[in-house]
Amino acid sequence: MTDSASDATIGPLSLVEFPHPALLRRTRPVTRLDAALRDAVAQMFEIMYASQGIGLAANQVALPYRLFVVNCAGRRGDGEEHVFINPMLSRPRGTAVQEEGCLSLPGVRMDVRRPQKITVEAFTLDGDPVRMDLDGLLSRVVQHEFDHLEGRLFTDRLPEAAALEVRRDLDTFREVFVGKQSRGELPADDALMAELRRLEAARC
Ligand code: NI
Repeated sequence: MTDSASDATIGPLSLVEFPHPALLRRTRPVTRLDAALRDAVAQMFEIMYASQGIGLAANQVALPYRLFVVNCAGRRGDGEEHVFINPMLSRPRGTAVQEEGCLSLPGVRMDVRRPQKITVEAFTLDGDPVRMDLDGLLSRVVQHEFDHLEGRLFTDRLPEAAALEVRRDLDTFREVFVGKQSRGELPADDALMAELRRLEAARC
């Protein structure tokens, strides 16, 4: 198999919104940490800070990779920047309810029930393994971003009444997305899928 540089190119990244197919599909483990991917991670932090986010998964910028970035402080220079590559969650303990929002569903905020504590194992951008026992906001954000990698949004975790409440919002997002596609402002789903498969072939 050839592996030319052009096949692995990652262009300028930007946020994508529900129901972009990258968000609804399970991401694939990364097997190659190259310069383009490191640049992509730097772009993800920029995009996250510019959007007042505290976590961002790769598929929220249409990269089909199992990685996400977090900084609970939400500002460059404050807090701690984390990159979780090929993460695995284990040992869920306790239960906590907290309001969540998502850069892929701007304007939607709902209470979400999750385990309070979790253990995460992952790799850093240098390829070093890390293992952390998490509680509080970092536990919450890591679980939210991990869901993204599984193709799940926080709206998939709502009890029935709350799910009904957001259904109309999700329908509106769908109408907006399809409208942009019909006006040529966004590629059609088959072109978006082809791009995801190209990026997977380069690093998964
Ligand atoms: Ni999100």
